[in-house]
Amino acid sequence: MEIFDLFGDDIITEHQNEKNKQLKSEKQQIKNELHRQKVVQKKKEKKKKIKQQKQEIIQTLETQEQKNDFVHQFKGLRNQKKENGMKALQSPFRIIIDCGFEDNMSDKEQRSLARQLSELYTENRKIDVPLKIYVTNIYPILHKYLEQYNYKQWQLVSEERLFTDIEEFQQANIVYLSPDGEEELQEIKEDEVYVIGGLVDRVIIKNATLNRSRQLGVRSAKLPIGQFIKKNYKKCLNVSTAALMISGWLKYKDWSKAFDSIVPQKFKEQEANEQ
Ligand SMILES: C[S@@+](CC[C@H](N)C(=O)[O-])C[C@H]1O[C@@H](n2cnc3c(N)ncnc32)[C@H](O)[C@@H]1O
Repeated sequence: MEIFDLFGDDIITEHQNEKNKQLKSEKQQIKNELHRQKVVQKKKEKKKKIKQQKQEIIQTLETQEQKNDFVHQFKGLRNQKKENGMKALQSPFRIIIDCGFEDNMSDKEQRSLARQLSELYTENRKIDVPLKIYVTNIYPILHKYLEQYNYKQWQLVSEERLFTDIEEFQQANIVYLSPDGEEELQEIKEDEVYVIGGLVDRVIIKNATLNRSRQLGVRSAKLPIGQFIKKNYKKCLNVSTAALMISGWLKYKDWSKAFDSIVPQKFKEQEANEQ
């Protein structure tokens, strides 16, 4: 009888665990869907606001000629973005965002990665020296989050494959950027391809990209930014900031100036000294 009771308990616990798991997954699905709707709604509102502002400006203009000029300029700006996107695709300076860190990230961190990639894409179309961006190793959940930003329309290369499986990179001079890198990066070269870890780690995972670079048999290097970051702050930038540092260096040929123009003020050692 006792044995039966114990056995029964096991079955009940297992059943409850299964039920809890299912509930958790359903809860997560609802959360994801709500987030998706929020992103779509935000985008719609932004579009509506721009349209409204455009109309308001047109109304303040007196002559038809002024109105036509404004509409022309407005279209020009939109075309400018597309042109910049084309310029980026033709850039000789290539970076890869390696998204092979699914197992190291929570759901929230993966969503944050998708948002950072979207920010990087937007910024790259505005900056003076745009980069050709490859987003590789896109896995199904990340694809789902990126879809909220319409990433298939982006003027960059998106890939499910690992970069080492892509022919273009098989003979390339690859440098994996890592805060724990074995050497310090001196300069950006046209004949090198820079890989950035598509990893958002709220609690920093030490050596994540260093180990990955070793597994993949490629060089690793850290950005020479330690002296510019506030003491006690981790010498670790987020994905989009790390990528933009490359463009910053190409513009100024100077890490300090690149850092100054890209990294938010609160991280800067300079500000700490001023306080
Ligand atoms: C949020 S960090 C991830 C940090 C993670 N713990 C790791 O081991 O790479 C995102 C990516 O930005 C790049 N990155 C950030 N700070 C860097 C630094 N100081 N030097 C080189 N790369 C850096 C790296 O490619 C890194 O994987």
